[in-house]
Parts: sequence; C-alpha cells; structure tokens
Amino acid sequence: MNYESAMSLLEKYGQSHILNYYNELDEQQKNSLLEQIKNIDFSILDALDKKADAKRGKIEPISAVTKEDIAVNKEKYLETGIEAIKAGKVAAVLLAGGQGTRLGFDKPKGMFNIGENKELYIFECLVNNLLDVVKMTDTWIPFVIMTSEKNNKDTVEFFKEHNYFGYNSEYVRFFIQDMAPSVDFNGKIYMEDKDRISSSPNGNGGWFSSLVRSGIFDELCGMGVEWLNVFAVDNVLQRIADPCFIGAVIETGSESGSKVVSKAAPEEKVGVMCIEDGKPSIVEYYELTDEMTYQQLENGQLAYRYGVILNYLFRTDCLVEINKQKMPVHIVDKKIPYMNENGEFITPEKPNGFKFETLILDMIHMHSSCLPYEVERNNEFAPVKNKDGVDSVETARKLLAENGVEI
Ligand code: UTP
Repeated sequence: MNYESAMSLLEKYGQSHILNYYNELDEQQKNSLLEQIKNIDFSILDALDKKADAKRGKIEPISAVTKEDIAVNKEKYLETGIEAIKAGKVAAVLLAGGQGTRLGFDKPKGMFNIGENKELYIFECLVNNLLDVVKMTDTWIPFVIMTSEKNNKDTVEFFKEHNYFGYNSEYVRFFIQDMAPSVDFNGKIYMEDKDRISSSPNGNGGWFSSLVRSGIFDELCGMGVEWLNVFAVDNVLQRIADPCFIGAVIETGSESGSKVVSKAAPEEKVGVMCIEDGKPSIVEYYELTDEMTYQQLENGQLAYRYGVILNYLFRTDCLVEINKQKMPVHIVDKKIPYMNENGEFITPEKPNGFKFETLILDMIHMHSSCLPYEVERNNEFAPVKNKDGVDSVETARKLLAENGVEI
C-alpha cells in the first residue's frame, strides 16, 4: 500500500488524521504505518452506527445429544468419526490470538507453564491431547494455529524451540488474525504514537476470514479437509478432533456441532445454547434474564443448561457461505492508552473509547443446524482464565491431576 491509496482509504472512513505525522517519519516508520493501515479492517467502524440495534430474537430451549445418548451410539459415532479423520477430512484450528489479560501473563497464554513438578505448557497439553487422536487413528491431522500480530513471533518461536511438542511440523500452520482499531467516543481512531495506530486483535470471530486471507483455508480444502474443529487455547482438558463428536455431527446430518457441559449452577458464567428465532444460537450469561437463568423444563432440568466450552465443529462449505455475510460486531467500552494532540502518551483512568470484536459464538446462529454434544465437564473442561479463584491455574491443575495427567 502506498501513501495515496492509504489516504483515500482513510478519507473514506473519516480517519485521515492517522497520516498527520507521516512526513516526520523515517522510511521504516512510514512503511510500518502503511502496513498497519493495510492490515486493519476499517469496515468494522460501520458497526458504531448500528450500536443501539443489537436486539435478540425469540429465545427457546434447545435439546442436545446427552451423555446417555452418546453412550448408546458410541460405537457408530466412533466408527464414522475415525473414518472421516483417516480420510483426511478433519483439521484442528487453535484460537490463540487472545490477549489473556485476566491471567496477567505477558506472553501468549499457551506459553504458560501449568506444571507443578515438571514443565508442562498449555500448548503442550493441547498437543498431547491431539496426539492421542493421531495415535488412535494413525493419521496426522492438520493443525492450524491462529495468533495475533501481538503474539505471533513468540508463539511460532516457542513451538519451534520445543520441536512442536512431538507434533509433525509438516502438518502445522500458523496464521495471524486481523486487527481492529480502537476509537474515541466519536469514532476517531486513536494513535499510540506517530507511526502506531491503536489496535487490538479483532476477537475470536475473525478466525475464519483471517484463515481464508492467509491462503491456508484453500490449502486445507485442496487436501480434502471438510470439517474444522475449532477450539480455545485455555482449556487444558480440551479433547481435540474427538472422533466420537465428529461422528455424532456427521451421523445426525448437522451442519455444525458444539461441545457443551451441563451448567454447574444456574448462575454459572458461561454462554448457553438455545434456539433463537428457530435457529441454533448462543446467549451470553450476561444476556440471560433472571427468568431464563432459573427456568425449568417439565423434568426439572434447567431450560438453559447447556454451557458452551468453545469447541466447535464446522463444515467447510457452510463456512464459505457464512463468510459472505457480515458478522455481528460487539462494541466494548475500554480504557485505551493514546497519544494526544501534543504528542504526549496518556494512560486513561476510565474508559475513553471503544474496541470492536466479533465472536465465534455468533457463527452458530448463522448455521441452520448445530448439534449440542454433551461432555463430562470434569473430563473435558479445565479453563485457565484467571490467576486465582474460579477457572484458574489452580482449578485447572487439580482437574489435570484428576484426569491422570502428570503435572
Ligand atoms: P477469551 O474470550 O477468554 O479472551 O478468549 P482472551 O483474550 O484470551 O482473555 P482475556 O479475556 O483477555 O482474559 C477465548 C479464546 O479465543 C481466543 C483466545 O486466545 C482464547 O482461545 N481469542 C480471543 C482469539 O484467538 N482472538 C481474539 O481476538 C480473542
């Protein structure tokens, strides 16, 4: 991108101030600024005009294949899932572009050592879990890792240094998710420095468009991949490319699937699956009314009991269709450090603007079917979100040990 094309793009979005200091910059800084402009998705700013419009449709409970249903059909599901993996139809996509602010660890979250008596990194736990399926099926599963501009270098080097934790590097790919700009309350993009736009990863919903942009999606399709198992970095008990889950989604003719756990308590802070206007959907815990939180079915079970654990299975042809539509954009008030008009760097004490994110959970509502697949939470859900307390390093260690993982 050159100066002229950058300027015309910025003018279109009313953001030409980004180039105010361009003439003061050296060659390297100029190139860096143009590169940032090229990598930013400015269309996300359109969401500011629709901020007030985000209304939910008619929400109803959804039924799942329960642990009991799965036990009955296990053999059939396993056979179908293993067959799909052996035929090279399944790839795994790790979402590791987040900033992990709650954990307060300044490196990529996957580099966190969760071991007690030995080194055991979060990335390593995930690779070990995937290797279980590689061994079971005698098939290398393409393993694609999404990073962000902020953590890509550290992540790639870490995998190399550790020899991919025993994974076959020919099957590993990395791609970088897009960034979204941070703006003031009037929608003007903040600068962090004269050559640096204030931006952050555009949320985990950006994974598919970024995968396509990277060229890796085409490569996977060329290899015959038809299903993508997408999962979060922070669940160390995550079962990846689980043949039984894959088989269940295929056997039920579903377009997508989502692993779910029964909520531990009505108030548990997880998004829950539901039907919204006749289509599968997920409502975040903070969107649940009190009535919905405690609502019960005739059998006494919670009506909205299936919490999502960020482990989804998507069919590639459906993803291509979905990618033609616009994802909902979530706008969040944040404290955004910035450079003021006198060139001083300011760290605000209260929110001074908005950040933009798209969320993978919104993709579920873009499908016509999604199979909620219930798993045993103590065996498959050990999120590392916080330093201590709920969903912390301590709770995850305990669950790893309970599942026979040497830590
Ligand atoms: P979280 O919603 O927990 O966000 O991510 P986070 O950034 O990791 O952590 P906090 O909220 O700052 O503490 C859920 C999953 O989505 C990925 C994360 O890496 C994690 O696997 N993610 C999140 C991305 O890949 N990109 C993003 O922009 C945001």
